[in-house]
Amino acid sequence: STDLGSYATLELDLTDGILTLTVNRPQALNALSQQVISDLWKAFTAIEDSCTHDAGWPVRGVILTGAGGKAFVAGADIREMASMEPDDAAEYARSAQGVTLLIEKVPVPVIAAVDGFALGGGCELALACDFIYASEAAQFGQPEVNLGLVPGFGGSVRLPQRVGLGPARELIYTGRRIDAAEALRLGLVNRVLPTRQELLAAARATLGEIAPKAPLAVGLAKQSITGAYGLHTGQGLEIEAGLFREAFTTEDMREGTTAFLEKRKASFAGK
Ligand code: CAA
Repeated sequence: STDLGSYATLELDLTDGILTLTVNRPQALNALSQQVISDLWKAFTAIEDSCTHDAGWPVRGVILTGAGGKAFVAGADIREMASMEPDDAAEYARSAQGVTLLIEKVPVPVIAAVDGFALGGGCELALACDFIYASEAAQFGQPEVNLGLVPGFGGSVRLPQRVGLGPARELIYTGRRIDAAEALRLGLVNRVLPTRQELLAAARATLGEIAPKAPLAVGLAKQSITGAYGLHTGQGLEIEAGLFREAFTTEDMREGTTAFLEKRKASFAGK
């Protein structure tokens, strides 16, 4: 069996190659205390380390969600922040930003399944995931200005990337909360499902569709999209060409193209 570790503030469930990672601090609406940030860092490091042929690619996709039925994550931990000095705050932001970069780096798709509040650092954590599915109870927002703060876990970078500059500015300057329907209209979420159960089932179904594909290819595609995003077209295409080349170094590429020509189903080993 695969050991991805155990964590004070996270629940892990690995079923059929899909890891459900649940932030479990419902008494604080799953707010991102330094402990949660550290646990997320360790868990995603363990996931990344398991994504090799030798380790057997036990995780083919991750669903990131929150416990308790009320919140995905209600933000950075306001209680902890209240007494931070500026340099502590910078370190806090950098360590949480490190988690968001790691989520973008793990070579498997990560879906944020948002049921309830995804505010501030919670919205920013969801934005680091490959895409977001929401339940009808989801609420998104960047309420930092209500606290005399600004986004610190990537919101001023990734929210404009996801929804465009105008809507991102409006959300961040007003601190306004939006519901799932509005988030769908803005392109912040890919899908809205009626209930939590249907939300998790839909995320699982999508990851189940991806799981039998060549895992290195999925990982390279993720790397290409994330790496090229926001660059000038020519620079982005350079990244793409380099990763396209890398695909040709894999056994899976030989298997996939040969299987096509032999009119049989490909069987990918993940190497
Ligand atoms: N940090 C710490 N504790 C939090 C929290 C947070 N972000 N959000 C909620 N909690 C705690 C509350 O203090 C409360 O604890 P107690 O029971 O000990 O009082 C518990 O969770 C339940 O919360 P509420 O009683 O407030 O629940 P509610 O249903 O009345 O309201 C809510 C829900 C509207 C989400 C409200 O909790 C809220 O506004 N939370 C803060 C949201 C926020 O401002 N997030 C952004 C933080 S700043 C940030 O994230 C900076 C960044 O970009 C990195």
